[in-house]
Amino acid sequence: MYKDQLIKILRALKLPGSKDNIVKDCTLEDLSFEGNVISIKLNLKSPAMHLRKKIEQDILHIIHERFDSKAQVKFHSQVKLHTLPLIRGMEISGVKNIIAIASGKGGVGKSTVSANIAVSLAMMGFKTGLLDADIYGPSIPLMLDVESARPLSTNINGKEKIIPVDAYGLSVLSMGFFAGSSQAVIWRGPMATKVLRKLIRDAHWGELDFLIVDLPPGTGDIHLSLMQEIPLTAVVIVSTPQKIALSDVRKSVAMFHMEAINVPVLGMIENMAYFSLEGQPELQYPIFGNKGAQEFASELTIPFLGEIPIIQSIREASDVGRPAALQKNTFAAERFMEITKKTVEQLVYRNTSIPPTEALRITTMAGCKAK
Ligand SMILES: Nc1ncnc2c1ncn2[C@@H]1O[C@H](COP(=O)(O)OP(=O)(O)O)[C@@H](O)[C@H]1O
Ligand SMILES: [Mg+2]
Repeated sequence: MYKDQLIKILRALKLPGSKDNIVKDCTLEDLSFEGNVISIKLNLKSPAMHLRKKIEQDILHIIHERFDSKAQVKFHSQVKLHTLPLIRGMEISGVKNIIAIASGKGGVGKSTVSANIAVSLAMMGFKTGLLDADIYGPSIPLMLDVESARPLSTNINGKEKIIPVDAYGLSVLSMGFFAGSSQAVIWRGPMATKVLRKLIRDAHWGELDFLIVDLPPGTGDIHLSLMQEIPLTAVVIVSTPQKIALSDVRKSVAMFHMEAINVPVLGMIENMAYFSLEGQPELQYPIFGNKGAQEFASELTIPFLGEIPIIQSIREASDVGRPAALQKNTFAAERFMEITKKTVEQLVYRNTSIPPTEALRITTMAGCKAK
C-alpha cells in the first residue's frame, strides 16, 4: 500500500528534457521497503553525473515533503542506455582514451581548448597525444611552435609508421606537417578521409592515456568518417555563448547522439564567456551573451565543464606557440587545469558506467516493475 502511495507521489517528477514522468519513462525501475529504509532502484539513460545527483536529490526532497519527513532512502542507480555506443572502427592499440573536441562553428576556440587540455593532461602526468584532425585549417602546429617540424618514419614489425612530433611532452600529428601551413589544402571528402585514416592508423602513437582529437568545425563528412574510423571514448563540445554558435552546437550534439554514431558527450565548455580588463576581474563584460552555453548545456542535459573568459594572454600564448596552460600561477592556466580535471572526472564516470565503444550492440529497454 505504501509502495503504491509512494509511486503515485514520484509520478510528479520528470527528468530535464523528458516528456514523461520518472515512473512512466522507467527511470524508476523499482522501489521497496527494507525496515525503515526506502530502497530505490534507478535506471538512468544518460551517463551524466549531475543528472543522477539531481534526480536523487529531487526524489529525496519529494519523499521528505509529501511522504515521510524522516524517511531514509538508499539509491541503487545504474546507467542503461537504449543503445550502447556503436563504433565500427578498430581500436588504436596502446591508446586508452580518445577524446574528440568538437564545436558547431569555427573560430570558437576549439583548437585553443584542445591544445590547452592536452598540455594540462600532460602536466597532470598522463601520457598524452594530440591529433589535429582539422584537415581544412590545421592550427595545432602553430599553437605548439612546431610549424616547421616534419615527422620521421620508422619500421615497426615490417610496417612503415609515422613518428608523432614531440611538443611540450605531447605526441602530435597534424595535416599541417605534410601540406605546409601556407599551402591551401582543398581535400575532397573521400581524399580527406583517406589522409585522416593514414594519420590515425599509420602512426606509431605508443602507449597513451589520452589522445585528444581536434575536429574540424561542423557536422560534415570528416566527422562521420572519423567516427566510423576510430572508437572515440567521448566528445567534448566547445562553444561561445552567442545564439548563432549555439544553434550549430545543437546539430553537433544531435549528430553525436545519432543511433548510428552514439558517442557519449562528456560536456560543454563555454569559451570567450566574458571579457574583463587586467586587474579588474570583478567587472565582467558578457560580449557574446551571458552564460548562453552554460544554460544551453543544461537544456541539452549535458554536463557543463566550465567557462573561459576572453583573455589577451590566451591569444598571445597561442600565437607564440606556447599554450597558456603552461604558464605558472596565471588565471588562464588555472582555469584550463580546472576544466581538464572536470573533464577527466566525467570521463572516469563514463568509463565506469557504460561499456567501451565497440561494434554494434543494441539493447532494448525492458519494462520496469514500478510502472
Ligand atoms: N579565451 C580566449 N581568449 C582570447 N583569445 C582566444 C580565446 N580562445 C580562443 N582565442 C583566440 O581566438 C582565435 C580562434 O581560436 P581557435 O582555437 O583557432 O578556434 P577554432 O579552432 O575553433 O577555429 C585564435 O586566435 C585564438 O588565439
Ligand atoms: Mg581550429
